[in-house]
Amino acid sequence: MQDLASKRIVLGLTGGIACYKSAELLRRMQDQGATVDVVMTDAARQFITPVTMQALSGRPVYAEAWDARVPNNMAHIELTRGAAAVLVAPASADFLAKLAHGMADDLLSTLCLARACPLLVAPAMNREMWANPAVQRNVAQLRADGVAVLGPGTGSQACGETGDGRMLEPHELLEDLVAFFQPKVLAGRRVLLTAGPTAEPIDPVRVLSNRSSGKMGYALARAAREAGAEVTLVSGPTALPAPRGVAVLPVGTAHQMRDAVMANVRDADLFIAVAAVADWRARNASTQKLKKTADSGPPVLEFEANPDILAEVAALPDGPWCVGFAAETENLDAYAEAKRRRKRLPLLVGNLAQAAMEADATELVLYDDAGRHALPAMAKLDAARRLIAEIADRMERA
Ligand code: CTP
Repeated sequence: MQDLASKRIVLGLTGGIACYKSAELLRRMQDQGATVDVVMTDAARQFITPVTMQALSGRPVYAEAWDARVPNNMAHIELTRGAAAVLVAPASADFLAKLAHGMADDLLSTLCLARACPLLVAPAMNREMWANPAVQRNVAQLRADGVAVLGPGTGSQACGETGDGRMLEPHELLEDLVAFFQPKVLAGRRVLLTAGPTAEPIDPVRVLSNRSSGKMGYALARAAREAGAEVTLVSGPTALPAPRGVAVLPVGTAHQMRDAVMANVRDADLFIAVAAVADWRARNASTQKLKKTADSGPPVLEFEANPDILAEVAALPDGPWCVGFAAETENLDAYAEAKRRRKRLPLLVGNLAQAAMEADATELVLYDDAGRHALPAMAKLDAARRLIAEIADRMERA
């Protein structure tokens, strides 16, 4: 599903070199189904032309307070009525100051004042400007007024300096914008997750691992953060980028995963174990690389059991609400329900392994005290959002 389907967003541009990123942002918003109306200040038009934004948005661009194209000539009112949000990106120091003081001396500032929808701003400025107490005061005021402040990011700046103040990248802004619209069903909760495979050494260059991609765990971490939670993700080796706003703790072995979980579980309200933890590790892993020699045959590995992280967390007195996963190749109902009872979990999520491991879509079945509840097949991110809603609902009732 497109994350901004049937939403009209007003995208405001103010004066800053980051305007070049706003063209890309507009495209990414459209990819997610948004209709975008662009409003530009005079200063923004020094950096990027209305023609570019009009061609990309496929809609008229607005710059003047008096605009005869709007039937009642009240663009400052009409543009935000029915809009899902106003996003000002880039938001210059000057524009933030205007907003903080309720000034309305051009179309964009007037429209922000007259709006009846949420306002998000993506600051973009030199690091010294961002650090200036006047700017910080204005940003604090805007936050207190209920304005969502996205970023800024940190790194090298167009002026040649390095520090805080650069506008977030278009994909980061898109992720934050999408998150903004998700219901905050886990607001104030702390969520700890495991994801991905573990990798158990055979020797310093070889590991035993599995085909888990980590996609479901990462999607759940993202969905939990979108739902307002503070999220820590303990992750085995994956090729996935860290979800925005999620603290990722990378680990290799099951033991490392257990230690990272135990170090963070005290603060957690909810623990979701999605990792495909190796059940065994090599007892006789070599400290040197194993060599092929003519006389010795292939190495013989001996195994010993790894700790069961989920069972350990579920057995903690006053521990978090626990959710387990079961990927099976057959007999899903019987195996999943047995696993749930064995580990004493309020909720276990089952899926069929071959279909699930690397795919982008998944079909989940929930098992709890009330029985079995199948969810329709969905993209993993949609399934993750649905699952977070199901979990929040159950935690509320527990
Ligand atoms: N899990 C865990 N630590 C382990 C093994 C599994 O935390 N050492 C968690 C997984 O993250 C998942 C659930 O427990 O949430 C899976 O249960 P498990 O019984 O270990 O599944 P399998 O390894 O698939 O078990 P089986 O071999 O019995 O099918």
